[in-house]
Amino acid sequence: MKINVLFSYINTDELAYTGKTTVVIDVLRTSTTIIQALQNGAREVIPVASVEFAVKVSGGMFGGQTLLGGERNTKKLEGFALGNSPLEYAPEVVGGRTIILFTTNGSKAIVKAKFSENLFIAAFTNLNAVANQLIKLDKEFEILCSGRGNYFSMEDVICAGKLISEIQKINNNVELTDSAKASVALNKSFGKSILTMMQQTEHGKILIENNFDEDIKFCSRINTSETIPYLTSGVLKAL
Ligand code: MLT
Repeated sequence: MKINVLFSYINTDELAYTGKTTVVIDVLRTSTTIIQALQNGAREVIPVASVEFAVKVSGGMFGGQTLLGGERNTKKLEGFALGNSPLEYAPEVVGGRTIILFTTNGSKAIVKAKFSENLFIAAFTNLNAVANQLIKLDKEFEILCSGRGNYFSMEDVICAGKLISEIQKINNNVELTDSAKASVALNKSFGKSILTMMQQTEHGKILIENNFDEDIKFCSRINTSETIPYLTSGVLKAL
């Protein structure tokens, strides 16, 4: 099984994902939020790459069952029902609903990889569940770290490294590209306390400045969920 890690979605073409198995990671906060929404009973999450498209899709859908969610530069968008805090996606809010999600990087990374044959969403909260699914699938795969624009995001890469390490505990026939080896090494160096590491990352500091300290705590929890979001026909559902 060969594993590669991409540090940003910006410089890849969407056709490069055709037929591949891709795991998208945006720990702070999009992938953690999607896992939480589906775990708490959302019917589906539709990731979109622009606010205009989010509004258009929601207009064409059955009103009361649909919620617009997401953020721009960490802040909830005007007219949207929800921001991008996983804590907002409680069962009584999202149960039975379709969420249309726009975020600064995470939803765009998912849309970029939409032609993948298999597309899963991972974060620290569902790490073991995703690792087991990939072991069962036994196919080579790419981990797409959302990053921030062209910038490398430490928390996404450390989550990628931890995912690879989990798989290596069970499957010793794993071939790693240079970027995958670097991710494993970064996890060994900085992945001991996920919370402390995330509080010190660039994105973590921005979230703290905007009073989202509780979100960082929530996103740092490991293996609290068995939910694996899976993209089918442009829509994320729990596998
Ligand atoms: C993103 O998509 O860039 C993030 O998830 C931003 C955030 O909500 O903190």
